[in-house]
Amino acid sequence: MKKIITYGTYDLLHQGHVNLLRRAKELGDYLIVGVTSDGYDRDRGKLNVRNNVLERVEAVKATGYADEVIIEDYVGQKIDDIQKYNVDIFAIGSDWEGKFDYLNEYCKVVYLPRTEGISSTKLRAESTVDIKVGIVGCGRVANRFPDEASVVNGIAIRAAYDIDESKTHEFVGNHNINSCCCNLDELLRLVDAVYIAAPHLSHYALIKESLLNGKHVLCETPMVLRESEARELFSIAEEKELILMEANKTAHCPAFNHLMVMIKSGVIGEIVDVDASLSKLWDDDMSLREFDSSQAGGSMYELGSYPLLPIIKLLGINFKNINIYSRMQNGVDMYTKGVMRYPHAVCSFKVGLGVKTEGNLIISGTKGYAYVPAPWWKTDYFELRYEDQNQNKKFFYKWDGAGLRYEIQEFISCIINKRISTSRLNRKESLCMAKIMEQFTNRINFVEL
Ligand code: CTP
Repeated sequence: MKKIITYGTYDLLHQGHVNLLRRAKELGDYLIVGVTSDGYDRDRGKLNVRNNVLERVEAVKATGYADEVIIEDYVGQKIDDIQKYNVDIFAIGSDWEGKFDYLNEYCKVVYLPRTEGISSTKLRAESTVDIKVGIVGCGRVANRFPDEASVVNGIAIRAAYDIDESKTHEFVGNHNINSCCCNLDELLRLVDAVYIAAPHLSHYALIKESLLNGKHVLCETPMVLRESEARELFSIAEEKELILMEANKTAHCPAFNHLMVMIKSGVIGEIVDVDASLSKLWDDDMSLREFDSSQAGGSMYELGSYPLLPIIKLLGINFKNINIYSRMQNGVDMYTKGVMRYPHAVCSFKVGLGVKTEGNLIISGTKGYAYVPAPWWKTDYFELRYEDQNQNKKFFYKWDGAGLRYEIQEFISCIINKRISTSRLNRKESLCMAKIMEQFTNRINFVEL
C-alpha cells in the first residue's frame, strides 16, 4: 500500500485545498493529512486563523479524501510522522517548491500544482471589515500599540487623541495615523472602538463617554480604581452590547494561558499558595506620573494588577481577607506586599517601584509546584517541579514583539464574533481587581512600613 502524507492549516477550507487533497490522494492508496494545531500556528506567527483546529479537521474530513487526519504540533514532526507511519510520498503545494527537499532523505517529495487565485489569506481579507480603532492617550504605553496592531488582522488605527495637542501630533506623525483629533468627541465620531492608554484617573470618564457613544473599549490596566465604577461601566457595556476589556497583557500571553489551564486541571494537585512578584526601578526621575500621588502613582496602582492576575485566575474572586503592607514616600507606595487568605490557601504578591524584588511566580500545590522565572508576566518558559525530580517538566513558548498583539487579537476577535466578554480576564475578575485597588486606596487592613 502506497502511503501519502500532506500538511496544512486548511483554514476556511477552499477549492485550492480540495484540489490539493484530491491530487495528493491520487498519488497512492492511503492519504494522511496533518492539520496544524492552534498553538503551532500561533507560534509560527499565524495569528489570524479563523477556524479552530477542530473545525479545520472536520472540514478536511468532509472532503472525503483523507483516510486519516493527524495534528501537527511541533517543528520537526514531519520527519517523525514519515517514519512512524511508514510514508512513501510527502506531497505539498507548489508554493513550497524546494522548501521540503530535506525530506527526500526519508521518502519521496512531490510538489503538486497549486490552484491559482485562491488562498485562506485572500478569503480572510475579503471577509473582514476592519474595526476602526482610535487611540486615547499618546504616551509611552500607547507607543507600542500601532506596531503590535499591524500584525493583527481586522484592525485599522484611524485616529488618536491626547489632552496634550503636541503629543497627539507627534504620535500621529510617528505612526502614520490618518486623524489627529482635538477632543474625545471628534475621535469617537471616526471609530468603532477605542484603546485607552491615558493616565489611570482619567479612565473612568473616558470609558464611560466612549461606551455611551456606542464604542467598544480596550482600557489599560488598572481599568478603574473603584469597584462601583467598574460595576457601572460593565453594566453600560452589557446593556449596549459592547466589549469592555481591561488590557492586562499577561492575561493573553500564550504561555501564561497554558500554565493556568494546566494548573487548573490538577497537574500540581490542589493549590495552596501563589506567590507573585514584579518590580520596576525607574532612573530616580521623581517627576514621572508613577511617583505622583495626585495622579494615582505608586507601585500598587501601577503594577498590582499583574501579580493579582494569577492569584485571582487560580483561586477565584472570593478571598476571605487581604492585608496590605507598604513602604511610602511622598504619598505613594514605593513597595507593597499583599497577603490574601482563601478558605484553603494563602497567596502573596509584591510590587515595587523603589525596591527591587526577584520577579518570579511560584504556584505551590499538594503534588508539586510551578516555577515561572522573571519576567513571568511576559513569559515564554515555565517549569513544573515535583518531589521526584524525574517527573519535572519544562515548557517553552514563543512571545512575539511587545506582546500586546495577543490582547489586541482577542479584543478584535470579541468584537467580530460578538463575544461580550473574554474568559482570559472576565468581568468578575476585573471587578475583583478594582475592589482590591479600592481597599488599598481606603487603607483598609493596611500597615505602613
Ligand atoms: N494550496 C493549494 N492551492 C491553493 C492554496 C493552498 O494547492 N490555492 C495547498 C498548499 O500548497 C498546501 C495545502 O493547500 O499544500 C494547505 O495549505 P494552507 O496553508 O492551509 O492554505 P493557504 O490557502 O495557502 O493558506 P494561507 O493563505 O493561510 O497561507
